[in-house]
Amino acid sequence: MNIAVFISGRGSNLKALIDAKNRGEFDSNISLIISNKDAKGLMYGYYANIDSFVIKDDDKLLDKLRDYSIDFIVLAGYLKTVPDEIVDNYEGRIINIHPSLLPKYGGKGFYGMNVHQAVFDNKEKESGASVHYVTKEIDGGDIVLQRKVDISDVKSPSEIRDRVLEIEHTILKDAIKKIEEEE
Ligand code: GAR
Repeated sequence: MNIAVFISGRGSNLKALIDAKNRGEFDSNISLIISNKDAKGLMYGYYANIDSFVIKDDDKLLDKLRDYSIDFIVLAGYLKTVPDEIVDNYEGRIINIHPSLLPKYGGKGFYGMNVHQAVFDNKEKESGASVHYVTKEIDGGDIVLQRKVDISDVKSPSEIRDRVLEIEHTILKDAIKKIEEEE
């Protein structure tokens, strides 16, 4: 597959994907990186010599994806809703990583630290990460992979974030590999 990775911030999931690709853990190529803002994580694209763009105007996304013959999109911490036009053109070809055990703590308003704060407030004993297909329903598409982590002893939401992030960095590349094997 010819992959575009979308990010919005720190880019640790993007970095994990680039590292996994360099270790030969999946076959697809990461050919394009897109961010909706001047994200810190874009530096990983620059270091890896992958063409990287800030695209704030949703109307310009599809042309860029077509310019790079992208056939698969990975949302790796893209904290903006993907426009319907992209979902329609890439049906069943977009996955997203989410920092909870969906369907718990998913949907509108549940992103980044908001998720971990809610999990902490509810005194959950376990959390985890999910990779799912993107549809027009926020966090509503079929699950590709999900992995759990014990959080029964955590003292803060940021501890939950760190444990979940560790899982995210393995599950996203594993999801790509799984989809490749099913192709
Ligand atoms: C990750 O925890 C990812 O699961 C989350 O944003 C973070 C991005 O971190 N995504 C969502 O909450 C999507 N609803 P990163 O920039 O270091 O990869």
